[in-house]
Amino acid sequence: MNQQEIKAEIRRLAQERNALLLAHNYQRDEIQEIADITGDSLGLSMEAARTDKDVIVFCGVHFMAESAAILAPEKIVLLPRPDAGCPMADMVTPEGLRQLKARHPGVPVVTYVNSSAAVKAESDICCTSANAIKVVNSLDAAEVILVPDRNLGRYIAGHTDKVCHFWEGYCPTHERLQVADVERAKKDYPEAVFMAHPECHPDILAMADHICSTSGMYDYVRTSADRQFIVGTEAGILYRLRRENPDREFILPTSRLICPNMKLTSLEDVLHSLQTLSPEITVPADVREKARTALDRMLAVPRD
Ligand code: 13P
Ligand code: SF4
Repeated sequence: MNQQEIKAEIRRLAQERNALLLAHNYQRDEIQEIADITGDSLGLSMEAARTDKDVIVFCGVHFMAESAAILAPEKIVLLPRPDAGCPMADMVTPEGLRQLKARHPGVPVVTYVNSSAAVKAESDICCTSANAIKVVNSLDAAEVILVPDRNLGRYIAGHTDKVCHFWEGYCPTHERLQVADVERAKKDYPEAVFMAHPECHPDILAMADHICSTSGMYDYVRTSADRQFIVGTEAGILYRLRRENPDREFILPTSRLICPNMKLTSLEDVLHSLQTLSPEITVPADVREKARTALDRMLAVPRD
């Protein structure tokens, strides 16, 4: 089958299986093209919970499919590439977190959704890059433990009076963006606005005009009067930014901003998943219930 035939067969099978195709904003262009919904990590899991479809095909990485399985336990959640993990999520284990908690008894744990279900189950509340500051400031506590992203953690620490204890995890993809890359891009495009994801190093965030989640970048561009944007996040975001804003220019400061895990999923993998209804992602009930509590607490924090 050629690419067009595979896409057509995916769409036909998705209908036959009553399946919803979700793609994270960092997925390959052709995967975003065939998806029913593209979005950020948490937004997609909420779509999974909201849909009346029986099957969720989650084109993303493992923790995202787990979040969908936590929020929609009655549905079949498929991750076309079970080897698509997140190195940052893997940097913290439940045992490691228990040790950190023991060093700070009674201090609430705020865990970024980029984490395993087992780590969420050890946490008090979750956060995303879009709501992290609000979640932390909503807590009635003088101290917080922030897990696992040290960069998001330090960004939050700059916007709260609470004493913050960090887990020293990081996203290897965002950490590849260097100050010299941004300096060069700003020199080449002096009028451009620099948008950065909070997973970037603090030195990069200090150079940013706007710091936001992937979905926040779409929203920002939509309402901005600016014409040129330097984009400080994974390259996959360019597909929709360019398609939705053909009159604007988007500059990736380095070609190193590619997450290998996010690029694993191919059209063939999606087709195979729909044909076999596998690999399915499930979360044991005891872990699921505790992780769900942490996610639900986050969802209860009022938005703007
Ligand atoms: P968001 O899409 O939630 O901003 O997350 C970025 C990311 O790195 C996902 O792995
Ligand atoms: Fe994990 Fe970073 Fe890849 Fe997101 S971009 S999946 S945080 S390694």
